[in-house]
Amino acid sequence: MAERIRVLLTEEEVDAKIREIGEQISRDYAGKQVHLVCVLKGGVFFMCELAKRISIPVSMDFMSVSSYGSETKSSGVVKIVKDLDEPLKGKHVIVIEDIVDSGRTLSYLLEMLKKREPESLALCTLLDKPERRVIDVDVDYTGFNIPDEFVVGYGLDYDQRYRNLPYIGVVEFE
Ligand code: IMP
Ligand code: MG
Repeated sequence: MAERIRVLLTEEEVDAKIREIGEQISRDYAGKQVHLVCVLKGGVFFMCELAKRISIPVSMDFMSVSSYGSETKSSGVVKIVKDLDEPLKGKHVIVIEDIVDSGRTLSYLLEMLKKREPESLALCTLLDKPERRVIDVDVDYTGFNIPDEFVVGYGLDYDQRYRNLPYIGVVEFE
């Protein structure tokens, strides 16, 4: 099936928003160190750009969970593909996600991470599709609320493609 990409958020808009969030986090955690937990693979572009905009000490770790196959719909199955390298105990953890959709992945993940006794646990997502929420999740930092459309770019993929787009686009199927 052929598809086209329509620009939803330009590179400039995304960059400006990431700067804002970085400044906000630096203020909120002033005097502390934050531990960014990236949810691979989608969160990686956002996390790298965000980390550069945070002016307080930062450490980073990565994990990978899967809830989606090659289709555009959630399977509802969440599986840990790669766990974190370091413990979270005593750290100010911020989970960095590309997008919160149904909320299934995040609610599962946050519950699991809470058990590791971080000093604090927050969630930061570049995109949110509030209309699609099935399970409630508290989001502490949101880049953009977007309509219920399938988006790619800035880490988000369609069948593993388009992650490298420097903007956010909507996939339009012909
Ligand atoms: P949730 O568990 O339904 O909230 O889904 C979260 C995950 O689904 C995200 O981290 C993405 O990997 C994927 N996802 C949800 N919506 C989109 C989209 O519009 N484009 C690409 N991936 C998406
Ligand atoms: Mg993701």
